[in-house]
Amino acid sequence: MQIIAITNLKGGSAKSTTTFNLAGVLVEAGFKVLCIDIDPQKTLGDAFFGVQAKGETLSAVLVKDSLLSLAVQPTKFERLQVVPADDGLKGIKSGQTQIEGGELRLRSCLTRLKTNLDQVNGVGQIDWVLIDCPPSLDRLTMNALVASDYVLIPVDAGAGGRVALADTLEYVYSARKWYNPTLKVLGLLISNTDTRTVYDQETAALVRERYGDLVFKTTVTASVRIRESAELQMPLVFCKGAEFTRYADIYRTLRDELLQRIRSKA
Ligand SMILES: Nc1ncnc2c1ncn2[C@@H]1O[C@H](COP(=O)(O)OP(=O)(O)O)[C@@H](O)[C@H]1O
Ligand SMILES: [Mg+2]
Repeated sequence: MQIIAITNLKGGSAKSTTTFNLAGVLVEAGFKVLCIDIDPQKTLGDAFFGVQAKGETLSAVLVKDSLLSLAVQPTKFERLQVVPADDGLKGIKSGQTQIEGGELRLRSCLTRLKTNLDQVNGVGQIDWVLIDCPPSLDRLTMNALVASDYVLIPVDAGAGGRVALADTLEYVYSARKWYNPTLKVLGLLISNTDTRTVYDQETAALVRERYGDLVFKTTVTASVRIRESAELQMPLVFCKGAEFTRYADIYRTLRDELLQRIRSKA
């Protein structure tokens, strides 16, 4: 079981879109995937997958340190399960809900899943856990970074995006220093970019110049098809119609590059 946090301080940098479509291509390759939506905005679970929190919620699991599998729900796709976000996460984020040792809660939940101490609710062997983070450097994001093996950072290459990226990386390195020394930055993914414009070409070049090999070769171009697939609540690889193929292929290329990177880091 490999755990990847998809994070960036900046809202609208394609975290949820990346998580959604990466889940799709990993499932397509035969893997079993669990997506965790730890953003109180509920974009990934509720808006994109159409799965609402019910019964034992993620916030309740974190507060009570109970079994994460109780909060796992099926999606309409085989081998793809989701832990949706819920309103209780807002209290954890703001600090109103106090949890002792709060940064480590998600890590203990996932360790129980990984070591088969938590196997209720039909949650068996999971290959990949993808954690979609909120757009802030808060206790929820820290929970995700402390629990993860890898971090993937979708990047908006514009001026504001580059400043947010530097702050995000600093936060990731502090998580590594204080809590999770084996955390690795898997890569920066330039997303939602219009490669036909000089502005987007130049800003992407600035990111590559500064961060070199940390940046994935794959870039995700901007397209209404990508927004449409979220509206249809179907990752691009599952969307019917030739107009989606080109964009599904971008995520397939990203999957191959990501698997290659993980092999070389292992
Ligand atoms: N490659 C893309 N092309 C077009 N729209 C995109 C692309 N990636 C993301 N978007 C849109 O940008 C907005 C923000 O994306 P989202 O994934 O929700 O960002 P975040 O989770 O970082 O806040 C959404 O409306 C999403 O549909
Ligand atoms: Mg999001």
